[in-house]
Amino acid sequence: TKQKLWGGRFTGKTDPLMHAFNQSLKYDQRMHDVDIRGSIAYAKSLTLVGILTKDEEKRIVKGLQDVGKEWEDGVFRPQEDDEDIHTANERRLSEIVGPLGGKLHTGRSRNDQVATDVRLWLLDQVKDAEKDLKGLIRVLVERADNEKDYLLPGYTHLQRGQPIRWAHLLLSYAFSFKNDLDRLRQLVPRISVLPLGSGALAGNPFLVDREFLAKELGFQSIAENSLWGVADRDFIAEYMMWSSLVMTHMSKMAEDLIVYSTAEFGFITLSDAYSTGSSMMPQKKNPDSLELLRGKSGRIFGNMAGFMMTLKGLPSTYNKDLQEDKEPLFDTVDNLSACLQIAEGVVATLEVHGEKMRAALTMDVLATDLADYLVRKGIPFRETHHVSGRAVALAEARQCQINELTMADFKSLNKEFTEDIYKAQQQGNVSSNSYPTQASGNGGNPARRANPYAQQDDR
Ligand code: ARG
Repeated sequence: TKQKLWGGRFTGKTDPLMHAFNQSLKYDQRMHDVDIRGSIAYAKSLTLVGILTKDEEKRIVKGLQDVGKEWEDGVFRPQEDDEDIHTANERRLSEIVGPLGGKLHTGRSRNDQVATDVRLWLLDQVKDAEKDLKGLIRVLVERADNEKDYLLPGYTHLQRGQPIRWAHLLLSYAFSFKNDLDRLRQLVPRISVLPLGSGALAGNPFLVDREFLAKELGFQSIAENSLWGVADRDFIAEYMMWSSLVMTHMSKMAEDLIVYSTAEFGFITLSDAYSTGSSMMPQKKNPDSLELLRGKSGRIFGNMAGFMMTLKGLPSTYNKDLQEDKEPLFDTVDNLSACLQIAEGVVATLEVHGEKMRAALTMDVLATDLADYLVRKGIPFRETHHVSGRAVALAEARQCQINELTMADFKSLNKEFTEDIYKAQQQGNVSSNSYPTQASGNGGNPARRANPYAQQDDR
């Protein structure tokens, strides 16, 4: 007769709702592969301490590989009493190899098993995240490299500030993601810690060789405290914090691009591949991809915050609350992966309207340069800032641009203004200290300096 793995001490039946409530197989089955990997390594370690004979190990390993193959082929048949992926795999193993299967769990607990599985699973996901993140950084850098000549207003408070290059903006996103890449790599040593051999909490009575296990499974180090080993989920919290940070960067980029894609700005057009229409308003082309990127940042942050609440107030070692780590983690991994790939596609395919960007470059964005002009004549910046502000006000009153003020106007503001002010206003100071690929602001091309707003070519 069938019994639960832990059924020995029980006489009464589990309430059906409780049974479903407790069951995690529907979502933790995606760890089937790492669970098998962990069990194969553990079987080998049991042979080394004399619990299994070499022949028993072989049969168990073969049985585990068969179970793994059933999962791969989509023919694994979960049973009603399979509580989670660990019990499911063990149950199936015993069906294949007989009572010998019952030897595998010697000295092991699902507590050290599940902690090992999640770490192994997440280490695989980190590799994918790294690849996806690099893909996004690559398209940002490639676009920046191809589109150095587009100028637009740089905004603070969403008000026109100073002229910048489009490439400068793209690379600002790339810098955030590059730091995220560094941070991701720094997480790995803290994920790559082997809990197996911690037992339920107090360690492994058969003294399995944990260095051997770590090597077999590719862990960088072993959990040196078993109470910590079974309970630590900081690596999950950290991964979700990291994901949340990535998503704040994603959200900022999405918000910028949403604004720039409006008819009012018109700086960019999203590709049809990443836009959707309206069921009512036929003219609409909505930036749903970007809005979802922005929206998912809330969800991913929420997963992290929710799980922190789960951890808060737990007593030491394993508690079933910890089973609540998987759904938010899986959801975060899935959504982050989708976001990174979608963002890469959106950035790679959007169309840039250099002429619209240039048209937004009204001369007032050179007001700072006007102030700097007087600084070069020896006047303190605080004063020149004020003078330049008055020039802007005067131009506003005259309904002209600041470079259209007369020489008499300029003189009336400050006697240090001379004819060369008109030339100075032509030059501006576009990104002089942060031009992406060259040491100087003009990319080494003096022709470009002559008119900062002139577009060399509108690709
Ligand atoms: N499904 C459980 C989890 O995800 C596995 C560990 C269960 N351990 C236990 N003693 N009930 O956390």
